[in-house]
Amino acid sequence: MAVASPPLVRLGTVDSTQARAFALAAGGALDGTAVVADHQTAGRGRRGRRWEDVPGASLLVSIILRPRLPATRRPLLTYAAGLATAEALGEAAGLVPRLKWPNDVLAGRGKVAGVLLESRPAEGEAVVVVGVGINLAQRSFPPELAGRATSVALETGTAPDRDAVLAALLRRLAAWRERLDAEGFGPLRERWLALADTVGREVVAGSLRGTAVDLDADGALLVRTGSGLHRVVAGEVEPAAAGPAGALTPPDPGSILHQI
Ligand code: BTN
Repeated sequence: MAVASPPLVRLGTVDSTQARAFALAAGGALDGTAVVADHQTAGRGRRGRRWEDVPGASLLVSIILRPRLPATRRPLLTYAAGLATAEALGEAAGLVPRLKWPNDVLAGRGKVAGVLLESRPAEGEAVVVVGVGINLAQRSFPPELAGRATSVALETGTAPDRDAVLAALLRRLAAWRERLDAEGFGPLRERWLALADTVGREVVAGSLRGTAVDLDADGALLVRTGSGLHRVVAGEVEPAAAGPAGALTPPDPGSILHQI
């Protein structure tokens, strides 16, 4: 017997597909319901930033999850979403993507996709909305993003079919969620490490500067400094600007502990 796919809601211009997804979730939308828009006037990025798009040039999608995971493990969904996005771009757009911790998708000249996970306290069942923005057809970016952002079109010469990328993304997200539920974080950690751009690099995370060496069993990034191994669980992790060897700032005492 065929299993019905979760609903797909297609919209034109919206404020944010995240906002629309939460509204649909409040009205009882099913797990896996996806909201896609052509353009957002108030697209939300991580850490309170805006996510800008040119109408019709991006895949802008929010997916409603009603996770079975306990609250403490729900942040691991961020890896399911990042992996699904990277793999969808490999499958449907011919990119060879890399992941910047935790889930920025990089290709060639810079960041090609971003992932935002938001949750709202809900009566009873928890709701997490996974938002994914993928630059598909942009041929240039505004000055403030130039040098940091890229698109599939810039990397491959061709804008891929938006629906093909979307279908691959939804399929792979469902598959990684299933594995997370059934097998735990291990398989996601392994796959993330295989696609990681961050590991092996000199990085800066807040006042910590050192070499990213691994991903911990709970998703924390492990950074080695002169004073030992530190766990980074939230915030920005950027490649360190090239500097003279040994010019490390003093590391924070202990771990940087925040929520992802
Ligand atoms: C990031 O800052 O890297 C995450 C960006 C996430 C953007 C997507 S676009 C679709 C969805 N709707 C939003 O308002 N944001 C996410």
